[in-house]
Amino acid sequence: MSPVRFAIVGAGMMGREHIRNLKLVDEAKIVALVDPVEASVKAALAEIGDGAGGVSAHTDIASMMAEARPDAVIVASPNFTHRTVLEPLMASGVHILCEKPLATTITDARWIADSAANRSGVFWTAMEYRFMAPAAKFITAVHSGEVGRLVMLTVREHRFPFLHKVGDWNRFSRNTGGTMVEKCCHFFDLMRLIARAEPVRVFCSGGMDVNHLDEVYGGERPDIMDNAFTTVEFDNGVRAMLDLSMFAEGSEEQEALTAVGDEAKLEVFIPSGALIRSPRTPLWAPKSSRREHVPVDAKALAAGTHHGSVYYQLLAFMDAIKGAGPVVVTAEDGLRAVAAGTAAEISARERRVVEMAELGF
Ligand SMILES: NC(=O)c1ccc[n+]([C@@H]2O[C@H](COP(=O)([O-])OP(=O)(O)OC[C@H]3O[C@@H](n4cnc5c(N)ncnc54)[C@H](O)[C@@H]3O)[C@@H](O)[C@H]2O)c1
Repeated sequence: MSPVRFAIVGAGMMGREHIRNLKLVDEAKIVALVDPVEASVKAALAEIGDGAGGVSAHTDIASMMAEARPDAVIVASPNFTHRTVLEPLMASGVHILCEKPLATTITDARWIADSAANRSGVFWTAMEYRFMAPAAKFITAVHSGEVGRLVMLTVREHRFPFLHKVGDWNRFSRNTGGTMVEKCCHFFDLMRLIARAEPVRVFCSGGMDVNHLDEVYGGERPDIMDNAFTTVEFDNGVRAMLDLSMFAEGSEEQEALTAVGDEAKLEVFIPSGALIRSPRTPLWAPKSSRREHVPVDAKALAAGTHHGSVYYQLLAFMDAIKGAGPVVVTAEDGLRAVAAGTAAEISARERRVVEMAELGF
C-alpha cells in the first residue's frame, strides 16, 4: 500500500506528539503543516527531522489542501478553532482525526457531527484515554462481565495544573469550553463507553481554588475550574462519579478507574498499570483479589505524555482509513462528550442539577 499522506493542523504540543507517533507508523508520511505561528512550525519541522525537507508549511487550510493534497488531516489546533478549521475539510473527502474536545459549544459540536454524518471520508474524534492500554483492558473486562452487573463507576484524575499554551488560549473557558469540556470530555466519553448508556442528569460541584489565582492576561483573570466532583446518572441506572484535582501533581497514580458491580469490584491505576479484581466475599472470609500488570509498548510510551495512547489510536485510525477496522470514536461520540461537559459546566456555575434533556439530549 502507498503511504497515507498526513497534514497536521496546529503544530503545538499535541500536534508534535502526533508527529512523534506518526513517525512510528510504517504506512504514514507527513507532507504538510498548518500553523500561523512560526515558532510552532519550526519546532514541528525539527520533530519531523529527516523527512522535513519534503514537508510544506502553510498558514491556512485552503492553500494546504490545494498544494499538499493530503489523504488525512490531524486537527490539533486550539479548541475554539476546531469548527473553522473543519469547515473547509468537511467539504472534501479527506480523512480527519480531530483532537478533543470536538468544539467548545454544543452548537458547533452538533454542526461537526451532522457534517461528519454526510461525508465520505473517515471522521474520528481523538479520545486518547480509551487507548491507554490499562484503561482499554479495564473496559474490556467490565464489558465481559468481570464485575457482574455494573452499578457504580468512578474516574479519578489527580494531576498537574494546565500547562501553558501558545497565546495562553487555555486560560479562558470561552476558548476551551471550560475544564469540564476541555479536559473532562475524556472522562465523560469513558463513562458513556463503559456504562454503554447515555447520561440523563449531571451535578458538578467545582471551582478554581488553587491554580491560576495570580495569573492575569490582558487584564483578565482565568476562569477555569481546577477541581471538581461530578456525578452523572445514566439511562440504564449506572451512576458515575468524576473526581478531578489539578493541584495533585505529587500523586503516584494520576488516573484510577473503578467499576463496582453486583459480583465484584475492578480497579485500574495509571501509570502503574495495576489492574485489580476483587470479588465479593462473605463477611469475615479472606479476601481474594487478583492483581495483574498491563504492559505498554515502550516506544509508544516514549513518544508522548499520554501513556502510549496516541500511538495505539493512530494505528486504529489507520485501520479505519484502510477499511480494515471501524471508526472507534465517532463525531457523535465527540458531541455527546461535549454535551456532558457543558452540563457539568452549567451545573457548577448555577449550583444545580442539569438534566441532559434541557440541552436537547
Ligand atoms: N487528547 C489529549 O489528551 C490532548 C492533550 C493536549 C491537547 N489536546 C488538544 O489538542 C489541541 C491543541 O492543544 P495543544 O496542547 O497542542 O495547544 P498548543 O497551544 O500547544 O498548540 C496549538 C497550536 O495551534 C496553532 N493554531 C492556533 N490557531 C490555529 C489555526 N486556526 N490553524 C492552525 N493552527 C492554529 C497555534 O499557533 C499552536 O501552535 C487542543 O484541541 C487540545 O484540547 C489533547
